[in-house]
Amino acid sequence: MGIGTNKWRRADRGAALETYRTIHDAGPSMIDTAESYFSERVVGDCLRTGPTRAVIASKFLPLPGRTSPRRLIRALDGSLARLGLETIDLYYVHYPLPLIDLAIFAEGLVEAVKSGRARAVGVANFNADQMRRIADHLARASIPLAANQVNYSLLRRAAETNGVLDACRELDVALVAYFPLASGRLTQASNSMVTKALLMCLADIARAHDVSISQVALNWLLARDSHVIPIPGATKPDHARANLDALGWRLSETEFDAIDRASAKDET
Ligand SMILES: NC(=O)c1ccc[n+]([C@@H]2O[C@H](COP(=O)([O-])OP(=O)(O)OC[C@H]3O[C@@H](n4cnc5c(N)ncnc54)[C@H](OP(=O)(O)O)[C@@H]3O)[C@@H](O)[C@H]2O)c1
Repeated sequence: MGIGTNKWRRADRGAALETYRTIHDAGPSMIDTAESYFSERVVGDCLRTGPTRAVIASKFLPLPGRTSPRRLIRALDGSLARLGLETIDLYYVHYPLPLIDLAIFAEGLVEAVKSGRARAVGVANFNADQMRRIADHLARASIPLAANQVNYSLLRRAAETNGVLDACRELDVALVAYFPLASGRLTQASNSMVTKALLMCLADIARAHDVSISQVALNWLLARDSHVIPIPGATKPDHARANLDALGWRLSETEFDAIDRASAKDET
């Protein structure tokens, strides 16, 4: 399980630090940031409080005119400086750019690893074909593609049918699920954008395990496939704690299937 920090820029600094401590004390985890979230400095301030067991991940923002391996490395140097790190655990390309050869990004990612700036590299928002192509480029330099970060939740299950989950299994790449709580829609017992059938199903199962519906929603993603790593965003320590507690128990097969059926109607 990881934690998303795209709202940490606007969050109260004290709350962000307390949220960080909560995650830190719970054990190893993953902290997800990106240059485009403007939260790297806040994460850096947290990391400066002492050694961490968390995997730190950030992302290169590809923009037209910002599409050379050199620009990627320069951006990575900026991220490292803001985070106060010499090496980042995982560095992603945030999304593919139309008409830009993926080999250019692959070259930058290879340099990131070879220069010792990144331990592992990944992509985000890549489709299955793009994933396979960049994995091929990286493999030529003996570097594995570590992760593809995509929108995946009980309300957004496209990764299961568009080939991304299959490619993750086949290439042994982590599917890092962003918006795993559907931007908060899977945290409330009533939400007009979620069908009553799904909410009732989640609520019944939550009651049986004495957990919350968001914990059930995260546990379902974890049970779906061992390659899936959800990164729920949290700016409040209580939310971070609750999300980490989605790890300590398992849905039964019957419960998993019931959620599977109920969520099929909500899919977007
Ligand atoms: N690669 C990409 O293109 C991309 C795009 C978008 C996001 N991301 C990443 O994915 C992460 C997650 O996305 P997200 O944060 O927008 O959506 P999310 O994880 O689906 O939902 C986060 C929302 O749910 C609330 N929440 C979290 N845990 C809760 C709990 N236990 N109980 C009640 N409410 C809870 C949060 O509230 P509080 O803030 O009040 O705690 C926040 O409002 C981001 O932080 C970012 O790192 C990546």
